[in-house]
Amino acid sequence: MSSMQKSSITLTVNGHNHELVAEPRKLLVDALREDLRLTGTHVGCEHGVCGACTVLVDGLPVRACLTYAIQMEGHEVSTIESVAVDGQLSALQQALHEEHGLQCGFCTPGIVMTFEAFLKENPEPSEAEIRDALSGNLCRCTGYQNIVKAIQKAAEQMRKAPDYVAP
Ligand code: FES
Ligand code: FES
Repeated sequence: MSSMQKSSITLTVNGHNHELVAEPRKLLVDALREDLRLTGTHVGCEHGVCGACTVLVDGLPVRACLTYAIQMEGHEVSTIESVAVDGQLSALQQALHEEHGLQCGFCTPGIVMTFEAFLKENPEPSEAEIRDALSGNLCRCTGYQNIVKAIQKAAEQMRKAPDYVAP
């Protein structure tokens, strides 16, 4: 069986330029985890349901299990590894920690990426809007209540100090 022809692409991941050589069906999530060793992006359902693989592409949440790596030519990808700056958690990460918005943590990277983008667009979301946005991220552990509380707290914190990073 002949191997599929690989293509070379250039993309930006967490602010750094990368060249990737990938076969056409290589998924973005596998390229991130296997080729770039960015294993903070998790793989759950592998078919677009659980949200664990969520990354940002040009600032918008995308399911990396439904995206081919070669589609990222020329695009800017951000993963969970880019969220804390110099080891300082973002307001959202800090609030998830303080409000016990995670247990096993499997869903957490996807939730953080989804809501880092969401809170930029919706600085003052209602609980219903938060729950609606959260419906694309499955969590088996928390029952969601503390995640909602954490997102509310992060929103408040970010309104007060948009450049907040945790001490
Ligand atoms: S692994 Fe991508 S949505 Fe579940
Ligand atoms: S904390 Fe375990 S799946 Fe959400």
